[in-house]
Amino acid sequence: MRFLACVTFLTAALATTAYANTEKVIFVAPSSQTVPHLVENWDRGRPRTLTPANPSLRRTLPVSFASGDERYPSEHWYLLRTLNSGQRYEVRICWAAIQPTDFRLEVFTIAEILTSHPKLFASSTESPRLNSESQEETTATSAVESILALRIQAAADFFTTNKTLMQHPPPVHVDIILDPYLANIFPRSLLPTGAYISILAIVGWYVSGIIWTFLKATATTEKIHPD
Ligand SMILES: *[C@@H]1O[C@H](CO)[C@@H](O)[C@H](O)[C@H]1NC(C)=O
Repeated sequence: MRFLACVTFLTAALATTAYANTEKVIFVAPSSQTVPHLVENWDRGRPRTLTPANPSLRRTLPVSFASGDERYPSEHWYLLRTLNSGQRYEVRICWAAIQPTDFRLEVFTIAEILTSHPKLFASSTESPRLNSESQEETTATSAVESILALRIQAAADFFTTNKTLMQHPPPVHVDIILDPYLANIFPRSLLPTGAYISILAIVGWYVSGIIWTFLKATATTEKIHPD
């Protein structure tokens, strides 16, 4: 009985409608390394970096539909910098349920990227703004830190009879969030939710106990005085 009341209480608390979708990747930060200048420069234009001090970005990502073998036609790259080596993190991407999209998140070391996508970091240094600063860049000392590259792949995931929408799916509004795990077990940003559920469970347990005792007392009294 107490258990039932407790479960009901919890279900009621959790049964709010989901308005958003989430996809995530969990990883352990690698050991520190010298950050290549190419990578330093890459982020100069528009911030594409998440750090523990600056853990979230709000972006509008262009998407298109999967076609042929290309399951995820859109690719977006970000950097995860100044991580704590050996610490477990997760990166989440959250988007509104009214924009159905299929996302895939993956992290790579810089060495992997320089081999598999040699042009990724190279491309940005060609912009004129960066060239004008290159003199200064070569003299600057490189950072040594735990760093990873984040790849976000996306594909629009809906069907409508509206041809315009099927040809040009609207860009998706997303939040990208870097979240460290506490003691490598529990995502920090979920702590308030965890605390909330625990408090509800504990309060639910006691309240249901009190109600049960009250009901039992009432029942007993009624038996003694049947009228
Ligand atoms: C199709 O969608 C576009 C973009 O939302 C809208 O402007 C247009 O009116 C729609 N067309 C039809 C036939 O519903």
